[in-house]
Amino acid sequence: MLTAEQIAGFHQDGYLVIPDFKTVAEIAAVRARAAQIVDAFNPAQSKSIFTTKEQEKKIDHYFLNSANNISCFFEEEAFDEHGQLRQEKALSINKIGHAMHDLDPVFDAFSRGPALAGVANQLGLMKPQIWQSMYIFKQPGIGGEVRWHQDATYFETDPVSVTTFWFALEDATLDNGCLWVEPGGHRTAMRERFVREGDEVRVEKLDTTPWPGDATAVPLEAKAGSLVCFHGLLPHYSAPNRSAVSRHAYTLHVTDGETHYSALNWIQRDAAFPVRGFV
Ligand code: FE2
Repeated sequence: MLTAEQIAGFHQDGYLVIPDFKTVAEIAAVRARAAQIVDAFNPAQSKSIFTTKEQEKKIDHYFLNSANNISCFFEEEAFDEHGQLRQEKALSINKIGHAMHDLDPVFDAFSRGPALAGVANQLGLMKPQIWQSMYIFKQPGIGGEVRWHQDATYFETDPVSVTTFWFALEDATLDNGCLWVEPGGHRTAMRERFVREGDEVRVEKLDTTPWPGDATAVPLEAKAGSLVCFHGLLPHYSAPNRSAVSRHAYTLHVTDGETHYSALNWIQRDAAFPVRGFV
C-alpha cells in the first residue's frame, strides 16, 4: 500500500521510487531466467541492435516481430569493425523484449500479483493493461545511452495513461547509467509520436518544447529491489554505461483500458493474444 504522501509525490513530480519492492529471491529468479534466454539465443538469427538514435532507419522485421514474442537485441557497440562480438554474448545483449510478461512463466510471476495491482490502482490505473516488458542489461563498458524521451510516444492513449513500472535488478548509480528525470516534466507536452503502419514506422514531431538540461534534470539512483513508477509524459534519459558493472533493470509499460489505445501504436494485440493486467 502506498501512503498518501507517496501518491501525492507521484502526481507532483511525475514519478515515485518505492524501495525494497522486490525481494532478493525474486530478483535472482528473473536474472537467472534472463541469462537462460540469452544463452539459448543464437546470434546467427539476428544481429539486430537496439539504439534510440535514428530509430526509423534501424528498425527491422526482427524488431517489429518482437512486439509479441521474446527477442534479444545487441548493444550498439557490441560488434567490432569485422562484425564480430567484442566480448562474450552474455555481455553483449542490450535488452530482451517485448512480451515475456505473457509468454514466460518466470517473468509472468514477477510482472503480476496483488502488490503491483495495488500500486497501479492507487496511481489511478482503473483497468491496467500490460503491453510491453523489457529486460535491460546496460552492459559494463558498452551499455548504450537512451536519449531523452517520453514513454507516451510509444504507447499513445486518449487521454494519456501509460505508466512505466521500472524495477532495479541491480543498484542503479551515476556510474553505471541510472535514470535521469525532470521532476514535474510530466506536465509538459508530448514531443513525439512513434507510429507504425504495417511494416513502416516513423517518428512524428508534435511539439518543440526542448528536452531537459543540466538545470532541471535529476538522477534517480536506485537500490536493487526498488520499483520506480513514472508518468508517460515524464521526460527521462539514461547515460551510457562506461563502468565495469552492469545495470540490469526490468520494465513494464501499462495503459488504462478505460482509455482509447491508438491503432497506430507499434504493439497491438488481438483476441488470440489479448492484453492483460496485473491479475
Ligand atoms: Fe522510456
